[in-house]
Amino acid sequence: MGRLDGRVGFITGGARGQGRAIAAKFASEGADIAICDVPPRSPNLAYETATEADLEATAALIRSSGRRCLTGVVDVRDQEGLSAFAQQVWEEYGRIDIVCANAGIVNWGPTLEMAEHVWQEVLDVNLTGIWKTVKATAPYLIRRGEGSIVITTSTNSVEPLRNISAYVAAKHGALGLMRVFALELGDHGIRVNAVAPGLVATPMSDNQAVYRGTFGRDDVTREEYIRAGHNWTALKGRNALSAADVADVVIWFASDESRHVTGVEINVDAGHMVLPGYNTSPFVEPGLPIRDYDMTALGHAPRLPNDTTRND
Ligand SMILES: NC(=O)c1ccc[n+]([C@@H]2O[C@H](COP(=O)([O-])OP(=O)(O)OC[C@H]3O[C@@H](n4cnc5c(N)ncnc54)[C@H](O)[C@@H]3O)[C@@H](O)[C@H]2O)c1
Repeated sequence: MGRLDGRVGFITGGARGQGRAIAAKFASEGADIAICDVPPRSPNLAYETATEADLEATAALIRSSGRRCLTGVVDVRDQEGLSAFAQQVWEEYGRIDIVCANAGIVNWGPTLEMAEHVWQEVLDVNLTGIWKTVKATAPYLIRRGEGSIVITTSTNSVEPLRNISAYVAAKHGALGLMRVFALELGDHGIRVNAVAPGLVATPMSDNQAVYRGTFGRDDVTREEYIRAGHNWTALKGRNALSAADVADVVIWFASDESRHVTGVEINVDAGHMVLPGYNTSPFVEPGLPIRDYDMTALGHAPRLPNDTTRND
């Protein structure tokens, strides 16, 4: 017996990456699947979003496991498109039990130099897209008086990172939105939670813009970036996790095992969020003296020579 036998999972951004892994995991536990994806190509992104071929590959994977799979070429910024697809899923399957608002994009660049339309695009997909997804699907969960909504946030829902301000702002917002939905939909027996992945090996996190943004220089290599991934986790031997690792937590939120859990965000980050915050490479103006501890008032003499400078 599967943990999701007889249920229907609706997943945005389901063509590849974590969305595909979630769809495959749900199907392996007995659910029928509806996935939507394939936004128009964005000139603002340093990587390609999914294609119809990706969407069909996920559908083939689901069908090969014996479950049904509906696909929709739907942009999460398109409320009418989402509502029409949800309606189609309802007519075809007669129910929607689980909604995964997973679609997302990331754009790298200094905040003060970011064009408004680039900022807005990330907000529209990563924050407003969640609101629209829930607006389109929640009425069907409400009809049944139960269900589970899982929103994909990020460790960036609470932790900042340089050069992805729109992403950080959207993910902070997504966490807040999840909590409000948990309150409002709790009245209807619907649970709403968030999974917060850390570093996950998908096309979004494996391109030159990410390497450059993470290190703050242009010539960083993929190898350096991959090696540095080990500094990002607390658990021994971990680096970027797999999409399936995240799906293992999403299915817990989707299943009855979490039946009393709502309004919660779980980090899937190999302990990243408990790493002590210590800047091992602070920016110091070249030539400025290193600031010694000033304990002269306590009667201690300065311990660094006065002329100690950095970068000289
Ligand atoms: N990869 C990571 O390191 C990481 C870390 C934390 C959180 N996340 C989040 O995980 C989620 C899944 O990302 P992923 O890692 O699988 O990356 P991904 O790029 O492989 O998958 C994202 C999917 O969303 C789709 N998508 C993008 N914009 C869309 C739109 N407007 N409408 C419909 N679909 C759209 C893409 O086509 C793609 O299939 C995202 O919300 C992302 O922000 C990723």
